[in-house]
Amino acid sequence: MLVNAKEMLDKAYENGYAIGHFNTNNLEWTKAILKAAEEKQTAVIVAASEGAIKYMGGFKVVADLVKVMHDEMGITVPVAIHLDHGSYEGAKKAIEAGFTSVMFDGSHFPLEENLEKTKEIAELAHSKGMSVEAEVGGIGGEEDGVRSAGELADVEECKKIASLGIDFLAAGIGNIHGVYPADWQGLNFDRLREISDAVKMPIVLHGGTGIPDDQIKKAISLGVSKINVNTECQLVFAEATRKYIEAGKDKQGKGFDPRKLLADGTQAVIDKVEEKIDMFGSANSAK
Ligand code: 13P
Repeated sequence: MLVNAKEMLDKAYENGYAIGHFNTNNLEWTKAILKAAEEKQTAVIVAASEGAIKYMGGFKVVADLVKVMHDEMGITVPVAIHLDHGSYEGAKKAIEAGFTSVMFDGSHFPLEENLEKTKEIAELAHSKGMSVEAEVGGIGGEEDGVRSAGELADVEECKKIASLGIDFLAAGIGNIHGVYPADWQGLNFDRLREISDAVKMPIVLHGGTGIPDDQIKKAISLGVSKINVNTECQLVFAEATRKYIEAGKDKQGKGFDPRKLLADGTQAVIDKVEEKIDMFGSANSAK
């Protein structure tokens, strides 16, 4: 059975580590994330953006895929299926489809509207036992067509949204989705400290790809308990798959069979997820 993400994140928050949120894109990805989490004996969050959900065939396809695969693989660690950057309508669809956790991202709305909609989604999701993530300020870069310059979240706004009964908060602290530009200034730890002191709840670090390990560890020590990673898994998958094809392996025997063609890429995702889990400090936390 899948679980919501509240308990695993509260435990991480209390014990000073972070749970990995890994975006899934297809069946191989889902399997890779679950396998890595089981091997590392940690709870994990399998996440899907609305773009990935559309690609994979719909909300129920994704919720059921993760559920059934979890059962068939005999996974014993806690697993949540989480909607990433959900719209107002998307969050409602995810709640209906059996997701166990939902992010409502109303950060592009005026604050009052974001608060109003977050409250409504939080009540609805909680009535079904799901966990809820909300966002204020913008996470920089681009995620499924939504662009933001990467603001620093306002502490008072964080306090307001945190008081609505949400379970974890995504707040911009200079983080950016995708690969960081060469002139990136790094995470803003002063702002993270202020937000963390004000909200006293697990904080979510989006844009986990490419943040140096020392900054990740410092962020965790200041209250970050969930770290989102997407692009980095895509990059290693693409790299391993390219190597396979460039080596002509798809032309040897039945190397064109998707089970073979995608195997190196999938293994690269497993390795990357395991590496992140170790770095986030959550390995063996589910034992
Ligand atoms: P990256 O693609 O930069 O790893 O960010 C993932 C993310 O924050 C998903 O919400």
